[in-house]
Amino acid sequence: MRQKFVAGNWKMNLDLDDGKDLLIEIINSSIDSTAQIIVIPPYIHLSKFNQLLTSSNIALGAQNCHQQDSGAFTGEISVPMLKSVGVEYVVLGHSERRNYYFEDSISLSFKVQQVLDHGLRPIYCCGETLDQRQEGLHFDEIRTQLKEGLFKLNEMELLNCVIAYEPVWAIGTGVTASPEQAQEVHSFIRKTIASVYGDMVADNISILYGGSVKPDNAKELFNCPDIDGGLIGGAALNADSFAAIANSF
Ligand code: PGA
Repeated sequence: MRQKFVAGNWKMNLDLDDGKDLLIEIINSSIDSTAQIIVIPPYIHLSKFNQLLTSSNIALGAQNCHQQDSGAFTGEISVPMLKSVGVEYVVLGHSERRNYYFEDSISLSFKVQQVLDHGLRPIYCCGETLDQRQEGLHFDEIRTQLKEGLFKLNEMELLNCVIAYEPVWAIGTGVTASPEQAQEVHSFIRKTIASVYGDMVADNISILYGGSVKPDNAKELFNCPDIDGGLIGGAALNADSFAAIANSF
């Protein structure tokens, strides 16, 4: 059975004190889910959160990383640094990084490799803009993002990746892809993987949906056959709504 995930991407929100309060609320919110829960706070929270999560099943994720181990890269954070504070997952290629920091799928492929080489798991985001969807280009865009970002990997490496489909038009907008729209793209992603890596890899890779997931739409989305969980933004900043989404599995 494919692994399920509910991952909360806090983006650039909450200082350390407020972040600790929210994490403690999440820990105490009696999440009872078959999904692996991941909290993905800003970098400066990670070390403290690692201590707070020692007796919890919640895993820790980071929002980005650099593609080299160390060196003169002012302002960057390396994968060995993330590993040293207990990070297990790294989000790569979020549309905010692609749009505001000009990250592209080819440069992301080096980060993906770096994360895997250190034994962590990438959460690789892909998705189309509204214009691309309206012009019917969304499948081409997603295929290109997958091919350039991931398809240099071998089978085992790809199976260690988690994919997140995040239509850019649904992120932070309150507009969610309908379960039918999301399922259609998830199924396309799985078929694209199958065409390169075969059915075993395609059937076993987890594909998350992201974009305005809320407690009232999570169940319907997670019930779709090719949706294996969610990457949650805004609704992850409230313990009750994050727990309700997690408990939708
Ligand atoms: P949202 O963000 O849930 O606030 O739409 C999703 C994401 O950016 O991963």
